[in-house]
Amino acid sequence: MFGLLNKNTTETAAPNPIKLEAPSIAPDLARPNLLSVEDAKAMPIEKMTELFMDHLNPGQYHFMKLLGFHKIKIESAEGVWYTDQNGRKILDFFGGFGSLSFGHNHPRILAARKKFQDENRHEIAMAFLSQYAAALAHNLAAIAPGDLDMVFLGSSGSEAMEAALKVAEKYQGPKRSKVLYAEHAFHGKTKGVLSITDSKLYQSDFTLLDDVTKVPFGDLEAIRTALENDPEIGIVCLETIQGGAGIVEAPVEFWRGLRALCDEKNVLWIADEVQSGTGRSGRFFAFEHYGVIPDVTALAKSLGGGKTAMAAMIARKEIYMKAYGKKENALIHGPATFGGIGESCITAIEALNIMYEDDLMENAQDVGAYMKAELQKLQAKYPKLIKDVRGRGFMMGLEFQDFSQTMPMAVRPALSLMDEKLKGSLSGFIGSALLRDHDVLVAFTEYNRNVVRLQPPLITQREHVDMFIKALDKVLSGGVIKIVTDFIKSQRG
Ligand SMILES: Cc1ncc(COP(=O)(O)O)c(C=O)c1O
Repeated sequence: MFGLLNKNTTETAAPNPIKLEAPSIAPDLARPNLLSVEDAKAMPIEKMTELFMDHLNPGQYHFMKLLGFHKIKIESAEGVWYTDQNGRKILDFFGGFGSLSFGHNHPRILAARKKFQDENRHEIAMAFLSQYAAALAHNLAAIAPGDLDMVFLGSSGSEAMEAALKVAEKYQGPKRSKVLYAEHAFHGKTKGVLSITDSKLYQSDFTLLDDVTKVPFGDLEAIRTALENDPEIGIVCLETIQGGAGIVEAPVEFWRGLRALCDEKNVLWIADEVQSGTGRSGRFFAFEHYGVIPDVTALAKSLGGGKTAMAAMIARKEIYMKAYGKKENALIHGPATFGGIGESCITAIEALNIMYEDDLMENAQDVGAYMKAELQKLQAKYPKLIKDVRGRGFMMGLEFQDFSQTMPMAVRPALSLMDEKLKGSLSGFIGSALLRDHDVLVAFTEYNRNVVRLQPPLITQREHVDMFIKALDKVLSGGVIKIVTDFIKSQRG
């Protein structure tokens, strides 16, 4: 834009043939049509829809619309409640797929974050030591049993699981890097863990890792046979409670046997606690119910206190030190840019303190058991509709009977027009009715369309369970034909 002037010479510069113009903003640096924070908050639902379709995920909108979720704009959220644009309160039994153990906007978490901001604390933990990352790592090591003492901080469950696979592989070496995983497992969607996420949908036609092998979940003999036949398997990776599969547990003998088998064969066991951890099952880690300790574990979701993205991989010290303990290999494993970021760390620190000071795990055990008993009463009342109630704490699955082949004749013609995914799935119709007519939000399940996942915040009280049970009872009392016809009517309306 400007002619070059030679400032460091006394020589007379040649006359500048270029006419100097007043500096102006280059067209490509001018502010584009940006929305402000206030614009975002005030955005009407029609505009949200348009932008979601244009720039986020038009396909996902299709599913929101199918379930009737697309008409809702959440304006605020507090405790176990969402509030929408019309002031309607929605009871949250979905809990962000397990990421809202502390409820929405827990006042102590908000206060800790505000104080941190007001004090102008620093965020990026890469140049200097971080007191916040150090304190969080200390807390996690103090909570984790045995010598699960070394912590890697990240931002998502997938990232923590990638770190878990890497530390295990580095420990075992390339000749024993094969990973055994379970049918219906969900470990994330990033390129590495995708190979052990047992979903044709998510794996699509991506190229996957060769050195993985799959067995049925909870089948110790299948694992023994696999390990005996293939000495390259050096890692077993399992969710402690399978979430995406529809809240599936294995018995205590399986976990005790797995620990003994892994010790016998010198195989590392990674326990994925991204969904079942941080108190959700009524113990901090679900594996604590079985009296066993894995070699490596991973947390995410509620570790961020419902306010931020925070994840952790925790490894036994011996494993970590062999993998990354020397200065030559320490940086192989250095943090990502946002690993251990300040405000996220103090959010997690405050959340962990609240967990123990407010007895949230006791509450999850107590109110979770109450919820299970109430659901079992409904199962006894509607055996033709409810097939199973399972899970522990606030990680519960409610499985409906499969109607894919047996939908009543009266609703079949209307159903034939509908989306494949919903046709035989009572959980879709019931979830939709709970929100539409009773202001209760529940979650669906990746692999089992008949299961509704119940993962309310750990602060949930019996009175909230009573509201949910009353709503579910009302929906079920109509019977299948009413449930389906109400749904079809709502789609037309
Ligand atoms: C058991 C388990 N592992 C890993 C992940 C991946 O976590 P994220 O979605 O934070 O990447 C999830 C997410 O639902 C999960 O449930």
